[in-house]
Amino acid sequence: MRDMEQNLRTPGPTPIPAAVREAQAQPMIDHRGSEFEELLSETSAGLAELIGTSGEILLLTGSGSGALEAAVVNTQSPGDRVLAVSIGSFGDRFAAIATAFGAAVDRFEVEWGAAADPDRLRDHLTAAEPYRAVLVTHNETSTGVANPMRALAEVVRAAPGDPLLIVDGISGLGAMPFEMDAWGVDLVVSASQKAWMASPGIAIAALSERARAAGEVARMPRFYWDFAEARTWAQKGQTPWTPAISVLFGLRVGVRRLREEGRQRTWARHAAIASGVVAGIEALGLRPVAPPEHRSATVTAAWLPDGIEWGPFNAAMRAKSLVIAGGQGKWTGRILRFGHMGDVGIDEMAAALEIMGGTLPQFGHVADGEAAGRVAREAFEAQTAGAR
Ligand SMILES: Cc1ncc(COP(=O)(O)O)c(C=O)c1O
Repeated sequence: MRDMEQNLRTPGPTPIPAAVREAQAQPMIDHRGSEFEELLSETSAGLAELIGTSGEILLLTGSGSGALEAAVVNTQSPGDRVLAVSIGSFGDRFAAIATAFGAAVDRFEVEWGAAADPDRLRDHLTAAEPYRAVLVTHNETSTGVANPMRALAEVVRAAPGDPLLIVDGISGLGAMPFEMDAWGVDLVVSASQKAWMASPGIAIAALSERARAAGEVARMPRFYWDFAEARTWAQKGQTPWTPAISVLFGLRVGVRRLREEGRQRTWARHAAIASGVVAGIEALGLRPVAPPEHRSATVTAAWLPDGIEWGPFNAAMRAKSLVIAGGQGKWTGRILRFGHMGDVGIDEMAAALEIMGGTLPQFGHVADGEAAGRVAREAFEAQTAGAR
């Protein structure tokens, strides 16, 4: 159990390892000095490797939504045609940001709980007037559904007008397969509080050369989020504005840990944990939201059983120190969500399932928490053994 005696299983912020906490507690440094330059350069290089790009990494101080805004305003002009592929609440947010800054946004909407179908997307892109950009959510945190990112990227790359592919990778990057350069992604963003194992506060943007060039003609208003400004300062090993230095200290350690583990192993660990959590959830008699082929490796959502109200159920779990998330937007009160990204193993998830299983009977739902924990471990082990 952690410091706060809390079993934090939300899809961000996520628990942070002791080494990250210690790093974040370091004495303050000057952000216009050589120590900061090293911090920025090591962290950026590590992130580029983990994201699969030889392109540019810009580290911004803000949350993930800030990076979504930055991605839009640094590549688009008012009136530009943008296709927003939305499979849930965060896809809707991306579309709303582009709309707020004056893009002509078409929505490619997918029923919540499903993933975007590459063939349908191809049909849409072929029939429509060309777009300047296509916005896609890699891993839809609100539903626990992962998009088939590689296949979608292939479709966008072949689309008329050669639109930019801009990806919200906030809750998937670092934990789920992602090959920015090989897949032809132009711009992808993430945030420190997700698989990177640090506190909230730093947003990450990775840009291809095409995305950088788009910035030269993009006319949407921007100041704080201006990538050109960030780039000028990054070349000097600095950021334009005072950065969240403590979070960067933590992020550097998170990135080191992921590099030590190795991308394939990290991805396999997350996939096996997700299998374990799904098996455990099913053992509790709950129904996962995502179809198996589009299951997120970092977030598992399940339908709340009939007759269970989220508020009191959540309060009862929190009374036992288990902190998970509920539904968002139109799914508020309908689903529950477990986060499992970054500093996580099957033990913590089995413990969470045990607590949930011990709470469900208080609400009239017959469940055996210990059995669910056991089933989760077995499914994790089976997948891990299969991957060896
Ligand atoms: C897929 C996705 N997009 C965007 C966001 C928004 O990020 P933030 O809350 O850091 O602004 C989140 C946060 O959970 C997310 O999971």
